[in-house]
Amino acid sequence: MNLHELAGRQRFAEALAVRAGKLALEMRSTLAPAEAKSAIDFCTEADRAVEQLVRGEIAAAYGEPVLGEEYGQDAGADGSAGLWVVDPIDGTTEYIHGSGRWCVSLAFLRDGAIELGVIYEPVGNRLFSACAGQGASMNGDPIQVSRLEHRAVPVIEVGWSERRSLDAYCDLLHMLVASRMEFRRRGSGALGLADVACGVNDGYVELHINSWDAVAGILLVREAGGWTNDFLAGNGLTEGNLILAATPELHQPLAALLPANSGRLQPY
Ligand code: IPD
Repeated sequence: MNLHELAGRQRFAEALAVRAGKLALEMRSTLAPAEAKSAIDFCTEADRAVEQLVRGEIAAAYGEPVLGEEYGQDAGADGSAGLWVVDPIDGTTEYIHGSGRWCVSLAFLRDGAIELGVIYEPVGNRLFSACAGQGASMNGDPIQVSRLEHRAVPVIEVGWSERRSLDAYCDLLHMLVASRMEFRRRGSGALGLADVACGVNDGYVELHINSWDAVAGILLVREAGGWTNDFLAGNGLTEGNLILAATPELHQPLAALLPANSGRLQPY
């Protein structure tokens, strides 16, 4: 695909993410009770409506397969001919609780490579966008990882879900503090990665995250000059993986804190 066509897809994905985010925002005040997928994982009618909107627009514009959080993977979506990866609302618990910390995340992949990543945070009105080899932006302005130029303590966001043990999560927090780093958990893996790309976070680590939460943010971090592991190695697309994304100065110190068997740590 030439750069002109990819740029057209990027504009399409940006407009779609904004439209999808506005739909989620409109739906929030009249929401039916959330449905529990597990003790801490929920789905709302807005998650489904937003994913349906996104799927419909992609089908009409490109007719390409989608892998989405709520409706799964379309038939034939092996990724070789192009695949959209969609999280309609990342940070669903924050969304339900009335916080602004949630977003729409869209990515386009081909032949196992992430070509586009777009994340829209409706409440903060932040639109993050990256195209492979073309840099990353927020609301149209170029962004860069921190390079620790703030000269203060590093801030590392550490995501958690029931897919890994609470003990392993707490061990990681202990080691971060012992290494003189601050930790945060703000409830949206996609925004945690976007915040690495724009320097608000110095790193994002989660022992297991799903591809729809991570792939758009991974491209943002890389295009903003950061380091990420090869999240898509093995079955990362369909089964998720460890994610480590950071300003380059921190990738080795952070990798050293992770258990040897925690996932694939080779670079992307
Ligand atoms: C979750 C959030 C959370 C991360 C979990 C995800 P959801 O996604 O991104 O921050 O730690 O791994 O499952 O359920 O809000 O779309």
